[in-house]
Amino acid sequence: MNIPMQAQNKILIAYYSWSGNTRYMAEQIKKNTNADIFEIVPTNAYPEDYNACVDQAKKEINSNFKPALKSKLASIEAYDIIIVGSPNWWSTFAPPVASFLSGYNFTGKTILPFITHEGTRMGKSVEDIKQLCPTATILSGLPVRGSNVRNAESDILKWLRDNGVIQKQ
Ligand SMILES: Cc1cc2nc3c(=O)[nH]c(=O)nc-3n(C[C@H](O)[C@H](O)[C@H](O)COP(=O)(O)O)c2cc1C
Repeated sequence: MNIPMQAQNKILIAYYSWSGNTRYMAEQIKKNTNADIFEIVPTNAYPEDYNACVDQAKKEINSNFKPALKSKLASIEAYDIIIVGSPNWWSTFAPPVASFLSGYNFTGKTILPFITHEGTRMGKSVEDIKQLCPTATILSGLPVRGSNVRNAESDILKWLRDNGVIQKQ
């Protein structure tokens, strides 16, 4: 078990996943930290059909649509670091993550983003997080290829260490 860098840092992992890759990564992060974990779930699930999902996602992203979410955190106040995960959809994070980022006050919080993708890595997700959360500190993001999430634990550990979430050993 890795020891958090500063024992007083309270960490939340918040993620959305459509087909499981980002969920797998979130669980790897959870395994290596003492973070709480929150799955971002839209009230209306996206279509299971890939092409239908791609079309809906394109429309929503182009119109900055923020879908309603099934549940809300009781409070974000207790957390210092929020590790936010999403699949890369059209070179940014998925709309449910936009809803999550718009739903709380991140002033004074640190956001550590991770993205699973199939080629466009972080895309413009970091810039888009900065737009939604201008008063947060945003640390360097980790892009992992969706087809490679099961081999990414050492990259995840390095990223958590480099960003001071867990202790260097
Ligand atoms: C609607 C949609 C849009 C996508 N757009 C991109 C993209 O622009 N760039 C990219 O590299 N991958 C894209 N992908 C691939 C996903 O980012 C990738 O498969 C990811 O690992 C899926 O994560 P998940 O299993 O947590 O949903 C897209 C997938 C979907 C369903």
